[in-house]
Amino acid sequence: MPSDFIYDDVPYPSFVFPQTNPDRLSTLARMHGIDAADPAKCRMLELGCGDGTNLLSLAYMLPESRFVGIDLAATHINAAKRSALELGLANVEFLEMDVTQADPAALGEFDFIVAHGLFSWVPEFVRPAIFDLYANCLFQNGVGYISYNALPGCHIREITHGMMKFATRNISDPREKVAAGIEFLEQIVDAAEEDSIYQTMLDLELEQISERTPENVFHDDLSAMNRPFYFEEFTDLLEKHGFQYLCEAEPSELGKKAAFKFPEGFSSDVTAREQYRDFAIGRRFRTTLFCGKDLAVDRDFRPERLKGLRFAAQLETDSSDSTANDAPVSFTTPKGNKVTLNHPLTKAGLTAIADAWPRALKLTDIVGAANEADAMVTLGYFTQLYMAGFLKAHCLEQQFFSEISERPEASRFARYQIERGSNAVATLTGLNLEIKDPAIGRLLYLADGTRDIDDLTQSMLEFAAEFNAEEMLDPGEMKASVLNNLQAFADAGLLVG
Ligand SMILES: C[S@@+](CC[C@H](N)C(=O)[O-])C[C@H]1O[C@@H](n2cnc3c(N)ncnc32)[C@H](O)[C@@H]1O
Repeated sequence: MPSDFIYDDVPYPSFVFPQTNPDRLSTLARMHGIDAADPAKCRMLELGCGDGTNLLSLAYMLPESRFVGIDLAATHINAAKRSALELGLANVEFLEMDVTQADPAALGEFDFIVAHGLFSWVPEFVRPAIFDLYANCLFQNGVGYISYNALPGCHIREITHGMMKFATRNISDPREKVAAGIEFLEQIVDAAEEDSIYQTMLDLELEQISERTPENVFHDDLSAMNRPFYFEEFTDLLEKHGFQYLCEAEPSELGKKAAFKFPEGFSSDVTAREQYRDFAIGRRFRTTLFCGKDLAVDRDFRPERLKGLRFAAQLETDSSDSTANDAPVSFTTPKGNKVTLNHPLTKAGLTAIADAWPRALKLTDIVGAANEADAMVTLGYFTQLYMAGFLKAHCLEQQFFSEISERPEASRFARYQIERGSNAVATLTGLNLEIKDPAIGRLLYLADGTRDIDDLTQSMLEFAAEFNAEEMLDPGEMKASVLNNLQAFADAGLLVG
């Protein structure tokens, strides 16, 4: 029998959200001068946590931190509790609860409170209750995160939402609703004036909707509730509840923001500038970080703030022996972005970081012994390289194996995700990695620390034979492929032994 809460009938597929990782929140807050908590020993609350995937991955990765997840759907919370039990995670707790009914005193206080995919999708009266929880449960130096649909970009989305809702108003079965909604949209795209701006715009929306899972389309595009916000409206709400805007959770935003040109004499007010940019880029989604309004937020990126952080980068260099002099050296990312530098300490630092990949190096270890002036030049370069996306910053010391051991062992949580049929796994660097090939998923699952390379090769030959009974598989080639894939696991931060 259907329940009276739609998420119980159609559970939402959950993933890991790197934007909500306490390492990311704390790093960004520290860059803005906030003395945010150590992610390795923090307390974090997630509102609307779905089936708990995000919190479970964090609880696995950060055993000395504690996590609490709240969700109204019994189906989600039961699945989350079962997973915590099966994974033996005692540092995460899941509560089946309406956020409007949550008792702040019983929940306690947290360093980080996050709500991903909740705020735009709840009825109007729930939003103040969400902010009340932040106001009552966030420590004084705590960091909040809320994601929401944004305007003006979502005006375009509203057009297709309206069409799909109109077409499916008399259909109750969720799958039929999704199929009928998409089919109707296809008809409208065909009926629109050929090659008009309107047709192109609808077609682009249709393309994006067709790529989502039916569950996502059902909850996101056919949702009865889907309220986008102008940034200015959102900051008004923040202020009303005692908070101030910090930044967005995507580090790449910082670089784009720095490069953005405002009209001469445009307001220096952060809200006005953010709103202007949203208008210019047609923004449709925000992942906003905020903190108490009494904290001193410093938006000038002071290079010295990077000092205590760790940096990681996957970079190819054209020469490693010219770091001592001031000959130019180029560093290239896997996407082909290239930077050429001649400052010796910066070149040496970047080379050390590239050599350490996928591990992150503490910046104090790189600039620690250098004279102050030189160190400041390197910190300045690193600030720019971070904002340009060449470097990843962390305040957490990540724990994983970067080499292949005799009996490789992959993250128990990632293996659990594969076991449960997921096509994406959480890495120990806090990212979500899509596993497109089932054979790779199988290898990850089998790498449980009990099998050596020959055992893994034999198991993979048997697995391949199931799919390719006709073809003779070469054991030598399979062993090379196993080693290659294990190295890829190591580089992605998936190995614990
Ligand atoms: C769109 S899903 C997002 C789930 C997950 N955070 C994600 O982004 O994948 C919204 C979640 O919020 C939960 N939810 C909706 N209203 C709620 C309320 N009033 N109190 C607690 N949870 C709620 C739903 O059950 C659902 O799991």
